[in-house]
Amino acid sequence: MDVKEAILRRRSVRGFLPTKVDAAALKRAMEHANRAPSGGNVQPWHIAAIAGAPLAALKGAMAESYGVVEPEPEYAIYPSPLPEPYRSRRFANGEQLYAHLGIPRENKAERLRWLGWNYQFFGAPAAVFIHTPRFMGAPQWSDLGMWMQSFMLLLLAEGLQSCAQECWSRYPHIVRRFVPIPDEHILFAAIAIGHADETAPANALRADRAPLAEVATWHGFAD
Ligand SMILES: Cc1cc2nc3c(=O)[nH]c(=O)nc-3n(C[C@H](O)[C@H](O)[C@H](O)COP(=O)(O)O)c2cc1C
Repeated sequence: MDVKEAILRRRSVRGFLPTKVDAAALKRAMEHANRAPSGGNVQPWHIAAIAGAPLAALKGAMAESYGVVEPEPEYAIYPSPLPEPYRSRRFANGEQLYAHLGIPRENKAERLRWLGWNYQFFGAPAAVFIHTPRFMGAPQWSDLGMWMQSFMLLLLAEGLQSCAQECWSRYPHIVRRFVPIPDEHILFAAIAIGHADETAPANALRADRAPLAEVATWHGFAD
């Protein structure tokens, strides 16, 4: 699989089969993702991988806690308010997903229940948490994104699918009961990992992108 194919094929998978993830494949993807670039080659990413018994225990704790235990967000995921055009893009993405799931806007309870599925890693049998020291700033956070995209593409090359999940940054106090993330580190996000359940309605979603003309300007190319 070449780079272009991997980038075009990657998508967020929100329904996984219980099929185990090969630890060697995961380790290979991680080792290669460590080649991701970072400003000053600081490599601010720290990764905690989880599967098996601790993952089952975390999922159990989240099943009990979601909607009951107050979140303790590590950071504000979106600016509030989120101005246009970002707000509309986010809204459209949510509506497209819920359309695939057949959950109308009025059915708030069912939408909340679906959000809770995030905290079961969408059924994935493995996941990683990405954390970084609290003293790191925005440039280093962007380095985490470099690592994450590299890792998700490399997972594809290993026959695995994934979904990045910043929602886990809302429950660091629960995650820390099962994964040793130091208090001096921010839990930035998780990535759910496994084999896609192609029959899951959520996996039929192909998220839009804004046209290139909306995000890129060109200077000097027509000279
Ligand atoms: C840093 C990051 C965090 C994300 N967090 C979540 C999340 O918590 N839950 C979720 O369902 N999707 C999450 N996503 C997936 C995005 O919604 C998805 O990438 C976007 O809608 C584009 O869709 P695609 O990945 O299928 O191309 C996240 C993506 C990124 C890059």
